Amino acid sequence: MRSGNTDTCRKQEWKPGNMLYPLPAVMVTVADKTGKDNIITVAWTGTVCTNPPMLYISVRPERYSYHMLRETGAFVINLTTRELTFATDYCGVRSGREVDKFRALKLTRQKASKVAVPLIGESPVNIECKISQCIELGSHHMFLAEVEAVHVSEFYMDEKGKFHLEEAEPVVYSHGAYFGLNHILGTFGYSIRKK
Ligand SMILES: Cc1cc2nc3c(=O)[nH]c(=O)nc-3n(C[C@H](O)[C@H](O)[C@H](O)COP(=O)(O)O)c2cc1C
Repeated sequence: MRSGNTDTCRKQEWKPGNMLYPLPAVMVTVADKTGKDNIITVAWTGTVCTNPPMLYISVRPERYSYHMLRETGAFVINLTTRELTFATDYCGVRSGREVDKFRALKLTRQKASKVAVPLIGESPVNIECKISQCIELGSHHMFLAEVEAVHVSEFYMDEKGKFHLEEAEPVVYSHGAYFGLNHILGTFGYSIRKK
């Protein structure tokens, strides 16, 4: 609970740790070389380059999904939504060693166009990636990857073809909890836009 002190400039110093929040929590699909697939939830992810389009995911080597990333050198990032929040959490607390997460969650496998890893049909945006580098940082290994294809749900497009991601109700992960985004505070560049 918040104490009576409302002065946000008064700080405690904590030991070094991960406090960069909020982050997207994404469902990453992976597959091994025999075609067995899996879904792992990842919050340590981000965009690192616009051109070529590149992003990363960081994964612990002890995850079941890890060997799949190494074997096929590919993965798909599936964006999550309010409706997919339960599945997002489930894929982050259950292992593919014990359960077929697609089946348990009744999710739809869709064929990717550039990689041998399925997309999650229920996700509004699927980003196909090919790994270019694995950097063994410590607890997590960072997979830097190039985006090979992006699939966007037509359901959230208006008659002019503009995609409204906000209508899919994207979810963020912040300090141990999932949050919805409830309203727009501004659009890109609004701080300098003429009224
Ligand atoms: C919100 C959330 C975020 C997570 N982020 C990561 C992450 O960035 N990297 C990672 O290695 N594990 C992460 N995990 C843990 C894995 O998703 C979890 O260990 C999962 O069960 C591994 O699945 P697998 O054994 O089928 O590969 C996260 C879990 C949750 C719930």
